[in-house]
Amino acid sequence: MHKIKATLLALSEIGFDVLYVERESVKKSEDRRKLLEEIFKNMEREKKCVLYEGASGYVFGEGNPYSPVVFVGEAPGEEENQLKRPFVGKAGRYLNQKLKEVGLEREEVYITNVVKSRPPGNRKPTPKEMQSCLPYLRKEIEIINPKLIVCLGSTALEGILGKSLPVSKHRGEIIDYPFKREIKVLLTYHPAYILRNPYAEKEFVEDLRKVKAYIERI
Ligand code: URA
Repeated sequence: MHKIKATLLALSEIGFDVLYVERESVKKSEDRRKLLEEIFKNMEREKKCVLYEGASGYVFGEGNPYSPVVFVGEAPGEEENQLKRPFVGKAGRYLNQKLKEVGLEREEVYITNVVKSRPPGNRKPTPKEMQSCLPYLRKEIEIINPKLIVCLGSTALEGILGKSLPVSKHRGEIIDYPFKREIKVLLTYHPAYILRNPYAEKEFVEDLRKVKAYIERI
């Protein structure tokens, strides 16, 4: 964002007062949205990603498909299930607030979940249930091709890496995404965990600052 602002300022200083956006870049951004829509349509048609009884359909990822950062959570909760949007409940509102605090807007990034419908009683999805949805998450990531995947909690990390690691030991670490080593993975706490354990907030915000710094370096 800062780079764009600086470039625009420099251009205006040398006399440019109108800027035309390349048609190609507009077309490109439409394409990523279209590709994501295709995946979501396939999910609905194939019904391979486990669809829990009582869940009224899938909650897909949302946000900027051109973002260098993708946030991955575990599974939608009750409000997400009702509104069909990820992270719009209590944990989501807390995440938005903390993103703002470090200078990031939710709309700038892309947010999704490993499992796309709400497990009964908000329980953790089983490995088998996760496996059934992972091909779709991997396709989402392939299309967005981010520089950084932020795993919110250990279930997200398990989905992304294919193995589980304790958050307490590995939070804040940056590791390679196994399917494309140029993509990095950052593990942090799930926002719902911080709401239950406020002492961890400082480290969570520290991790979000790391994300912001990562974006600025790109
Ligand atoms: N928790 C998650 O992991 N995902 C959501 O979308 C909401 C809460």
